[in-house]
Parts: sequence; C-alpha cells; structure tokens
Amino acid sequence: MGATRALLLAAAQNRWLKEHAPRYSFVRKSVSRFLPGETLDDALAAAQRLRDKSIGSAVSQLGENIRDAGEADAVVRHYLGVLERIRSEGLQTEISVKLTQLGLDLSTDLCEKNLRRLLEAQHGERSVWIDMEGSSYLERTLSLYERVQADHPETGICLQAYLRRTKEDIDRLTSCQPSIRLVKGAYREAASIAFTKRREVDSNYLRLAERLVDEQRQGAVRRAIFATHDRALIQQITGFAAAKRVLESRIEVQMLYGIQTQEQERLARGGWRSSVLIVYGSQWYAWFLRRLAERPANLWFVVRNLAG
Ligand code: FDA
Repeated sequence: MGATRALLLAAAQNRWLKEHAPRYSFVRKSVSRFLPGETLDDALAAAQRLRDKSIGSAVSQLGENIRDAGEADAVVRHYLGVLERIRSEGLQTEISVKLTQLGLDLSTDLCEKNLRRLLEAQHGERSVWIDMEGSSYLERTLSLYERVQADHPETGICLQAYLRRTKEDIDRLTSCQPSIRLVKGAYREAASIAFTKRREVDSNYLRLAERLVDEQRQGAVRRAIFATHDRALIQQITGFAAAKRVLESRIEVQMLYGIQTQEQERLARGGWRSSVLIVYGSQWYAWFLRRLAERPANLWFVVRNLAG
C-alpha cells in the first residue's frame, strides 16, 4: 500500500480530524464534487437527473459506527422516509446501507431487527443493498445477509475483490441465489488477508467478475453489479459478456456520483445497465478520506480549493 494511501486511511479514522476538518470551507468545497448536496432532496433530485439519461441510482445516507440504539433507530426512520419518497415519486432508486449505521457495533440482533424493518417496508419492490465495511465485520455481515436474504431474496450485498477469501464467499453465497455488488475494497487491510498490489486486486476482480457473469447467466446469482470506475476492467467485463452473448441490459456497472460521469453516460447509451450510487448527508468526513485514498491525485484538487 502506498504511503499516501495509508496516511489518508489512517486519517479517516482520526477523531480529532473528523471533528475539525469539516469546519474548513476548502474541505467542504472539495467534498461537493462527490456529493450533490447534504440533503435527501439533493440526492433525489440527482437521481431524477440521472434517470433522464437512462442511468439508474441508489442512495445512501452518510454515517457509520453509530454509538447508541437511538441513533440507529433514527437512521432506520430516515430510510423508511426515503423508501416512501422513492415510492411516491415513482423513482426506480434503491437504497444502500452500512450495517454499522444500523447498530452492528452495539448488537447483531439489534442490527438485524433494524435491517428487517427496512426490508419489510420495501415489499420486495426493489433491492436494499448492504455495503461491506472493514474485514472485522465481514463474517457477521455475511451471516446476517444469509439470514435476511432467506426471507427477502432480492436483498443485495457488497463483496470486495481485494480480500483473498472472496472467491470462497461467492461459493458460499451462490446456494442462496444472492445479489452481489463487486468492488475492489476501500479499507486498510493486512497483506495476510488482502491483496495489496493493484495488479493483483485488478486480476482478482476480473476473475470474480467473469465468474459472476457466468453465475448470473446460469441463474445461480440473481443480480451482479460491477461497481468500479476502472475503464480497462469495464472494457474487459463487457467484452467477456459480449463473447458469451449476454445481453447488454443484463450487465450492470455502478459508479459513485461525480466520478467518470462520461463513462456512466457512454455505458447507458450503449445499452449496458449503468447506475450511480449517490451519497448525501453531513457525516462525510471518513467517506471523503477514503475517496482521496483511492486516488491521491484528488489531493491536488483539495489543495487548489485551498488556494482559490
Ligand atoms: P481504481 O481505484 O483502480 O480506479 C480506477 C480509475 O477510476 C482511477 O484511475 C480514476 O481515474 C478513477 N477513480 C477511482 N476512484 C476515484 C476517486 N475517488 N476520485 C476520482 N477518480 C477516481 N468499497 C468497500 O469497501 N465497500 C463498499 O460497500 C463499497 N461500495 C461501493 C459502491 C460503489 C457503487 C462504488 C463505485 C464503489 C464502492 N466501494 C466500496 C469503493 C471501492 O471499493 C473502491 O475503493 C473504489 O470504487 C475505487 O476503486 P475502482 O474500482 O474505481 O478502481
């Protein structure tokens, strides 16, 4: 792992910085590139604009590692309101949640109850997606997913290609016809459990993606989403799907709001399923630092805002 990336990921967990950095306007200005705004209205307006370009969307309220049950309850009530707005406004938008936002640090039972409240309100209309956090949550996240997915089959889970075990996790999940969003992985993980060289992560991503295309074709995977901005990888995945005669509309590529916008539009024009994860809210500090760590060149952008 590069020194800058390691530093940024460590800063993402620093409490003092978390409290103080958002006070600076140049930091807030830099964040605005990745957020349409801090409110749900901003996020849903962005979803509507994307829909006009035939691009799908998912929304996610920022925040993680909440500290008491009341906070988790407030998050659930917020998302219940989001689901209601999505339904009443006729949007196709889905939601994506972090389990530590629903109380996983407090108790697995509480977290499961909270997640089920969302799944029940969803009435199977669309998927609720579960983000994957650091590896210390992985086993609990997978088991919880298996339990809720038995009752709500359309529920989706994120898996990280940088983890060496992800192939086995896919083996394990295919028995329940999962929906999987494949990402490279955004946290700081030890070399004993994760690939640390970019080349290794990319080739594992491609191997897993090709497998998911095949599994989806054969019905063992309900839905696969390739969540990456990596154009070379996207080309390889879409090329693989074309060679296997998989319809463009069966291959979904998802990106983050504000990143590779032209590529999102190009995919949608080409008939591929293109979608965007829109995050919103005031708790953007740790999330923003992870985006900087993914592409340290983004730091120049922060520095430019400091100067301007
Ligand atoms: P990579 O980092 O190799 O980037 C490829 C190219 O994309 C770069 O060269 C650059 O051009 C562009 N790019 C990438 N990141 C950029 C950025 N921040 N700013 C500007 N340009 C950028 N992770 C996780 O651990 N758990 C999760 O639940 C999720 N969920 C999730 C959902 C969605 C929809 C996406 C797109 C990503 C996630 N991630 C995630 C994050 C993921 O693990 C990964 O850190 C980022 O997507 C960056 O990796 P890429 O695949 O984009 O490739």
